[in-house]
Amino acid sequence: MSEKSYHMTPQQFRQYGHSVVEWVADYYQRVENLPVLSQVKPGDIQRMLPAEAPARGEDFNAMLQDLDRVVLPGVTHWQSPNFFAYFPANASGPSILGDLLSSALGVQGMLWATSPACTELETRVLDWLVQMLGLPSKFLSTATGGGVIQDTASSSSLCAMLAARERTTKYASNRQGCPGGLVAYTSNQAHSSLEKAAMVSGIGTDNLRLVEVDERFAMRADALSRQIEADRKCGLTPFFVSATVGTTSSNALDPLPLIGAICAENDLWFHIDAAMSGTAALCPEFRYIQEGLEFADSYTFNPHKWMFTNFDCNCFYVADRKALIDTLSILPEYLRNQATESGAVTDYRDWHIPLGRRFRSLKLWFVIRYYGIEGLQYHVRRHVELAQEFSCWVQQDDRFELAAPAPLNLVCFRHRGGDKANEELMSRLNASGDLFLTHTRLDGRFTLRLCIGQTNTEQRHAEGAWRRIQEEAGKV
Ligand SMILES: Cc1ncc(COP(=O)(O)O)c(C=O)c1O
Repeated sequence: MSEKSYHMTPQQFRQYGHSVVEWVADYYQRVENLPVLSQVKPGDIQRMLPAEAPARGEDFNAMLQDLDRVVLPGVTHWQSPNFFAYFPANASGPSILGDLLSSALGVQGMLWATSPACTELETRVLDWLVQMLGLPSKFLSTATGGGVIQDTASSSSLCAMLAARERTTKYASNRQGCPGGLVAYTSNQAHSSLEKAAMVSGIGTDNLRLVEVDERFAMRADALSRQIEADRKCGLTPFFVSATVGTTSSNALDPLPLIGAICAENDLWFHIDAAMSGTAALCPEFRYIQEGLEFADSYTFNPHKWMFTNFDCNCFYVADRKALIDTLSILPEYLRNQATESGAVTDYRDWHIPLGRRFRSLKLWFVIRYYGIEGLQYHVRRHVELAQEFSCWVQQDDRFELAAPAPLNLVCFRHRGGDKANEELMSRLNASGDLFLTHTRLDGRFTLRLCIGQTNTEQRHAEGAWRRIQEEAGKV
């Protein structure tokens, strides 16, 4: 019987690949004119999709056409320069191409032996970042620590909490289950991923203390100290503190030196979540945000938010890699190999929860090499400048007020007309498709957030956003 193949041949791949690259380049040229927030209703996209999968393969060009017809209407354009919502998830040419190559190689880099380049490039790029961001040298792979790429900050923070749990329980809870009485701390402005980490790690959210914050929404170190003392008096075991550099709601900066000193005094694992704002440290003038990092046991930040590296790409650093590896390492017979046994290599499967891992460092490597430190600094600086300008415009308009300090690229502000006026203002703006911004609640009040971090956001987009906000403000 003659061999039959349904596969795409390299020749066909070349042809269709060119079409896809053309599509992507066109998309980036037109994205700024598309309505930023998808305007579809629930079920609209599903209705355009057949209920059953095709029995026979279809023409590739028809699929590409359906991308425009079916998919795009249901896409919120995170890569529009008019995207100011949440925190960004920005992408860039070198990153997209690096990701494509990673897919092409299709490497599963669970062990050094399953593709040495996947491990060694990752180690080198994460060491570069220690220098690029001015992180403590203990995070270097050549010291006691090291970095690893994870999918998200949520996973990293979970790993940090697990390693802290194991260190405190002398590595017994992996075997025996989590004992009662362990208590973790973060501020009431910390990201919900810390609560999820408490849920998943067996600590329990009842044992995660949400410490109060000051008028700048930063954790109060005195309140933390008091809470730890009170818990100890009740016979509980404090073990973990997570501080935030740039909270999600308002970009508040927790006082790391004070919190770090408390952790050192009490022998607590000190984790720092700098999901978006950590990228600012590329610029020396913003490195003040991570003062106190020398106390940290672990640190996480997301190049997939503000460093032009498309989702997913989170960097997680530990000061003592042994604590992390002893927490997560497990070696079944079928993964045994000489390189691992020799102890001379890093097996990143021991540094996170999943076994399998993509070759994510490729896109990060491409981004860093393409932009250079200078290019990355330029664009981050520019975003901060634009946000600072926006904050001045808000302050100059009597109808508005700032709702929180704006140290970097996030501006929290509100119309003085109250919650209803702000809700209506946001709905009108987002429904217009001209820009997309989201909200939070600060001091119990509905607050608008405008974050500047999309790769291609320039002065004219920030000006356009402010003009539209002013126009709509006249109607609420
Ligand atoms: C401070 C902070 N931590 C953690 C996260 C979660 O990020 P990820 O989606 O990478 O888990 C976010 C997301 O916005 C965040 O702002």
